[in-house]
Amino acid sequence: MKVLIHDDAGKAADCVSGLITARLARAPASVLGLATGGTMEAVYARLIAAHRAGTVSFAQARSFNLDEYVGLAPDHPCSYWRYMAEQLFDHVDLPAGAGALPRGDAPDPEAEAARYEAAIAAAGDIGLQLLGLGANGHIGFNEPTSSLSSLTRIKTLTRATRAANARFFAQPEEVPRLAITMGIGTILRAEEVVLLAYGPGKAEAAAAMIEGPLSASCPASALQLHRKVTVVLDRAAAEGLALREYYEDVHPAGRDAAI
Ligand code: GLP
Repeated sequence: MKVLIHDDAGKAADCVSGLITARLARAPASVLGLATGGTMEAVYARLIAAHRAGTVSFAQARSFNLDEYVGLAPDHPCSYWRYMAEQLFDHVDLPAGAGALPRGDAPDPEAEAARYEAAIAAAGDIGLQLLGLGANGHIGFNEPTSSLSSLTRIKTLTRATRAANARFFAQPEEVPRLAITMGIGTILRAEEVVLLAYGPGKAEAAAAMIEGPLSASCPASALQLHRKVTVVLDRAAAEGLALREYYEDVHPAGRDAAI
């Protein structure tokens, strides 16, 4: 795992945006795996700015999002379809239809999950997978005790995750109980993974992911098995790392020769 620690959240988002633009410059027809959540808003704002400045194009790319709430149609204001349209797709040159998410309103959610998994495989799997980190160590909506080789399927959200995401809904009880999420096995097939986390609320999960045992209790620890993972943190999210000095020696101020 490459661990890049930045002074603040803004620099961490700059770093992740830079990794994505570098990937698209190198491989314009990349299959991107995209994430939602508050963490990614700063990344997408930077990608939109880069697109407007003419330094990145999504014209040959396609994307698959990690997850969607079961029961929410694409036009629901709290759906991840809507989030992606507002935060990225409507502002860049990704061709219409090239940004895929699971359909939360599919009549048979399990069949939709299987269809989505097959579509990812048919696209040749994800090239660069962007991930956030749940405070309980989840990636996508793979909650603790998810199978480390799981594929896209339905997961029941924990109370803690529903509470954390309640801020995006008018009422806490409106947060759906179920989601369709790429599995940990799906994520591990990606060619490269970039995970972004910032703020003190992510410090414990970041430490468990990077330095804890490989365990379904912290789904993100499965990334220890992947051969090309970059974890991008701010100082607050890096607070719990026992080997923090080592990471900072290797990549001072989060600098990465690959960017
Ligand atoms: C959500 C999403 C994840 C996201 C994570 C962190 O529940 N399913 O994809 O990375 O939890 O969210 P946030 O960035 O809002 O802290």
